[in-house]
Amino acid sequence: MSKRHVIELAVNGDQHVVPVTATTRLTEVLREQLGLTGTKVGCGVGDCGACTVLLDGEPANACLLLALEAEGHEITTIEGLATHGELHPLQRAFMEEGAIQCGFCTPAMVLTGKALISKNPNPKEEEIREALAGTLCRCTGYGKIVRAIERWQEYTKPSQAGKTSGDEHVVVGARLPRKDAPEKVTGRARYADDIRLPNMLYGKILTSPVPHARIVGIDTSKAEALSGVKAVLTGKDVTDTLYGISPARYDEHVLAKEKVCHVGDEVAAVAAVDEATCKRALELIDVEYEELPSVFDPFEAMQDGAPIIVERFKNNINTRVDWNFGDVERGFEDADLVLEDKYEGNRTYQSPMEPHCAVSEWDGDGRLTVYTSTQVVHYVRYQLARLLEIPQGDIRVIGTHCGGGFGGKAGLNPLEILSALLAKRTGRPVKMRYTRSEMFHHGRGRHKQHIELKMGMKRDGTITAVKQRCVLDGGAYSSFGIVAVYYAGAMIPTLYKLPNYKYDGFRVNTNLPACGAMRGHGCPHPRFAFESLLTDMANSLGLDP
Ligand code: FES
Ligand code: FES
Repeated sequence: MSKRHVIELAVNGDQHVVPVTATTRLTEVLREQLGLTGTKVGCGVGDCGACTVLLDGEPANACLLLALEAEGHEITTIEGLATHGELHPLQRAFMEEGAIQCGFCTPAMVLTGKALISKNPNPKEEEIREALAGTLCRCTGYGKIVRAIERWQEYTKPSQAGKTSGDEHVVVGARLPRKDAPEKVTGRARYADDIRLPNMLYGKILTSPVPHARIVGIDTSKAEALSGVKAVLTGKDVTDTLYGISPARYDEHVLAKEKVCHVGDEVAAVAAVDEATCKRALELIDVEYEELPSVFDPFEAMQDGAPIIVERFKNNINTRVDWNFGDVERGFEDADLVLEDKYEGNRTYQSPMEPHCAVSEWDGDGRLTVYTSTQVVHYVRYQLARLLEIPQGDIRVIGTHCGGGFGGKAGLNPLEILSALLAKRTGRPVKMRYTRSEMFHHGRGRHKQHIELKMGMKRDGTITAVKQRCVLDGGAYSSFGIVAVYYAGAMIPTLYKLPNYKYDGFRVNTNLPACGAMRGHGCPHPRFAFESLLTDMANSLGLDP
């Protein structure tokens, strides 16, 4: 047990006496002890700046600061910026310049801006961008944030909403702040990790360290014996019902039953009094794996004899799309120029600023409430009802503010079902949240795509035929992949007149983490390929692309 110290912290003009250890971070004191949840944790390791507070007026990463180091300094959090109920002009500027989207970065952005204008009331764009360099936003593109800081002095008076129209009854063309902007700019907006319920436990997931293996045995006895551990679940404790997005391709177990299919596959879950105890318990779970051959390349995975990942299917082609209209071969014959090329679009991950989090609680009548940072509450509710075998009417899913999702927070997340199961087993509310690195293992990012494209064109630029073949690396499970592989082909004819088109799509399972929905559901890579080839065609024919 680490030695406790009692320190006095000056936060937003108030003195607080708090117990800490030598390793307690300032974010923990602010969020967990003082309830000042406007200070966010996006990475916990000093990379994202979401935890920015002012320390004697200077921006500081509260996740890197030990609480002991903060003693004797004046700390300002977003909750301390408004005075006597009046927003700071910079807060009003953020609201009215449209500088807020998901709002997860907003407290940090506002405080960083505040530190800058306190020293330099008329900062230039480069100075603002320099000041914001350590504070990341995944939603806004920064333009409006920079503009809000540049124009803060125009917002010294209360609401100027609608000022662009000049008529209070005209809303079309008027600039209107988001409805939730006041909550987000003051730190009052509650994200899933800001929910704290009485008697709450924490949960963590043990994941597979190997890409493909049969589970020979799991011994949880040492973890269960650890002081502070309240429950341990493995595959034998959960339903055999599979889940996913499309009923035809439900292929995921809540926890691995017989085998794991990628590094990061969920194997066991623990609930304990705090996350540190959860992590110690996970280290005490012994899993014996018998490793199986793995495949990481979709072309190899399509070959005969490749290791089969989902055993009830006879090969690794998860989804096949064969779609065409007109006569492409005839179209190529009619063309003055035919070109073809290959393109590759990589795997990427959404990386929303807010890590996933879910908090579950059962009432005495067997009804469940789940607070979650989901994009789609009805998917979560539907899948929970299937997996828990209770009516949807007994489940309430509360979508908290969502700190960015971009497709990665659509569909059921392991945290939602496992926090519900652990809460049921322990009879206490359970919070589960990912660290930034866990997000990469569990996230459902953009598919890698291998694209072969052929196009025919007449001298005047008329397209006569297009043929496209896409191979998508889907990773171990289906997730939203059925949509991605369909859209990869179906969206190509939407922008141009194509009389003849043929699309062959293959989404292939590999032993990598599953891909899912991300901004455009499979469309951006083929669109890049199409526009690239179109430009090459135009240049070859001496046309303006
Ligand atoms: Fe502190 Fe990311 S820098 S949470
Ligand atoms: Fe900046 Fe969402 S508004 S991360």
